[in-house]
Amino acid sequence: MDEAIAHYPEDHRRSAAMPLLHLWQEHFGFISDEGVLWIAAKLSLQPIKILELVTFYPMFRQHPAGKTHIRVCRTLSCAMAGSYQLMENLFAATGIERRGHADAMHNPISVSPDGNYSVEFVECLASCGTPPVCMIGEELRENVDVGSIADLLRHQTSNIKHQTSAHPLEHRLIFKNIGREDWTTDIDCYLRNSGYEQLKEALTMPRSEIVDKVKNSGLRGRGGAGFPCGVKWSFIKPDEKKPVYLICNADESEPGTFKDRYIIHEDPHQLLEGILISCFALNARTAFIYIRGEFPEGAKILERAIEQAREHNFLGRDILGSGFDVEVYVHRGAGAYICGEETGLIESLEGKRGYPRIKPPYFPAVLGLYMCPTIVNNVETLCHIKHIIAMGGVNYARLGRPNNTGTRIVCVSGDVQRPGYFEIEVGAVTMGQLIYEMAGGLKPGRKLKAVIPGGSSAKVLRADERFKLKQQQTDGSTIEREMSIDEIPMDFDSLAAAGSMAGSGGVIVLDDSRDMVWALNNINEFYAHESCGQCTPCREGSLWMQKITDRMLRGGGVTEDPKTLKTIGDNIAGRTICAFGEACAWPTQSFVQKFPEEFAARAQKPVPPPLPPEYTPEELMEQEEISVTPLAHDPGWEKAGAAGTI
Ligand SMILES: Cc1cc2nc3c(=O)[nH]c(=O)nc-3n(C[C@H](O)[C@H](O)[C@H](O)COP(=O)(O)O)c2cc1C
Ligand code: SF4
Ligand code: FES
Repeated sequence: MDEAIAHYPEDHRRSAAMPLLHLWQEHFGFISDEGVLWIAAKLSLQPIKILELVTFYPMFRQHPAGKTHIRVCRTLSCAMAGSYQLMENLFAATGIERRGHADAMHNPISVSPDGNYSVEFVECLASCGTPPVCMIGEELRENVDVGSIADLLRHQTSNIKHQTSAHPLEHRLIFKNIGREDWTTDIDCYLRNSGYEQLKEALTMPRSEIVDKVKNSGLRGRGGAGFPCGVKWSFIKPDEKKPVYLICNADESEPGTFKDRYIIHEDPHQLLEGILISCFALNARTAFIYIRGEFPEGAKILERAIEQAREHNFLGRDILGSGFDVEVYVHRGAGAYICGEETGLIESLEGKRGYPRIKPPYFPAVLGLYMCPTIVNNVETLCHIKHIIAMGGVNYARLGRPNNTGTRIVCVSGDVQRPGYFEIEVGAVTMGQLIYEMAGGLKPGRKLKAVIPGGSSAKVLRADERFKLKQQQTDGSTIEREMSIDEIPMDFDSLAAAGSMAGSGGVIVLDDSRDMVWALNNINEFYAHESCGQCTPCREGSLWMQKITDRMLRGGGVTEDPKTLKTIGDNIAGRTICAFGEACAWPTQSFVQKFPEEFAARAQKPVPPPLPPEYTPEELMEQEEISVTPLAHDPGWEKAGAAGTI
């Protein structure tokens, strides 16, 4: 425990709250009241500061689980592959009593009568390409055979799949080594393949030159927003007096996205090298890798990589004789999607609930971790830094399209024959090539119905839509072209112009067998579960949308429902503290708009007359007690000629 506490600055020991909770739960199985009190005392905090974490983060539990705890992914790509049936079969095989809605399984955890098993529905486990997936204890099980529970319970070790050969349409930088027969995550293997050469080179360069290279490369963040990385970095003053922090965002929780896990599992040193170069460029002496709690194996792989790098003096004191000291620490989340949002992540890293911060300041680069300048970058973004040093910014920018440079990893899941990861030159591959050539096309006899192109928050595209996109020509001029979904280039600007976004690169394909109300309800359930609850429109609206789509699915849809869904979505987007508001509104707004016939078909009942208001006896008493005399006069109003009260 003391070792975990030592990762954080002396006056910010609260950051150690989550690591200590993880350690406590690993040892005792759950967080008891005694645990809360003990950790609070250890960190000199009030017990409520610990209890609020236990109740906020879904992975912490206040009751014991079974000897084997099974987490089943219930989110879209897994649900499409049968995860609800998997859960039913697990109930039957383990004798666990069904307690209704998915949420009901969390608190307390559903345990079998003999105490041997417990099950829990969880949100996307970032393995959407090998569905359905579940975690047995700490091990990930992919492509689970829904009909063979006995087999699943017998073989509880991880069966993570490796995707080997590159498709001819791929252009691999990040995946250059991943999947090779002789490739391992060991540092010796990395060094044999020119590992850490770019760190050595960077340490000889002026910091400003590295930042300029990243600016010239045009690299846009791969975490979702696509913000230019070099511009973000240049917000850090070269003569900054406060400590500067770098945070690697490895929270990867956007449904449909499963690339960062793969990089961490297959090439941790590539990520570490990117982090170390970035730290040097930003003069950041401490980096944290915030990794989602559901990646326990990834966290161990990174810890090992850090120790190996330390042995070679790539990190620690005076790295490679450069005079630069740097430390990298792994910090585990605990199951909350909102901790992927950078300010929610920072709060979480400070040992608080993952509540996104009110803006301004707009960028953590101004006020971030411990109120110090902080750069938050995605795993994949940080890996690109190594390649920018190797190639030079200008050469890197030649890959891809103007304003959409480099390569990026797109993850394809859903109704395709060969779901998986593909590293493409940004914009050099169309949606049609991605789906039909790289991902093997649709299942036999099926037609494309819709695509969600950038993680579940992205607006859905309908297969028979026509899109008007402006395209830049080689002579610099632009022309407007009308195109089908198959022709849309997979880049940031084209997908934005098509009315959606490239987001986190998670492409979810839906064929004509899919019920769009069912699909939206699954997505709505995710957002209703994950809203942090600070903003009323998001907290209430996400739940209302989910309750309506759920009611529609159960045959209770009323004619007003599609309109009500749209109104709720319209009243969330743009009215919240963080972009989760848009993320939860966009699916509903776009599904209802693009598939009106399916929503209307499930909204047939007449709208019932409004119920008379119901008051509890206490509320009636309160009403009687409310004084009708004005409380105070507002002189301003009186001056204006109106006798108002305040
Ligand atoms: C609700 C929400 C969830 C997010 N989840 C992630 C995530 O899991 N991983 C990630 O890298 N970025 C995520 N982001 C984006 C981050 O806020 C931030 O923009 C990103 O980490 C910056 O890195 P980049 O510039 O390298 O893309 C999320 C944003 C929002 C609004
Ligand atoms: S928009 Fe939602 S997730 Fe973001 S701060 Fe508000 S309530 Fe929390
Ligand atoms: S792992 Fe199940 S939907 Fe992503």
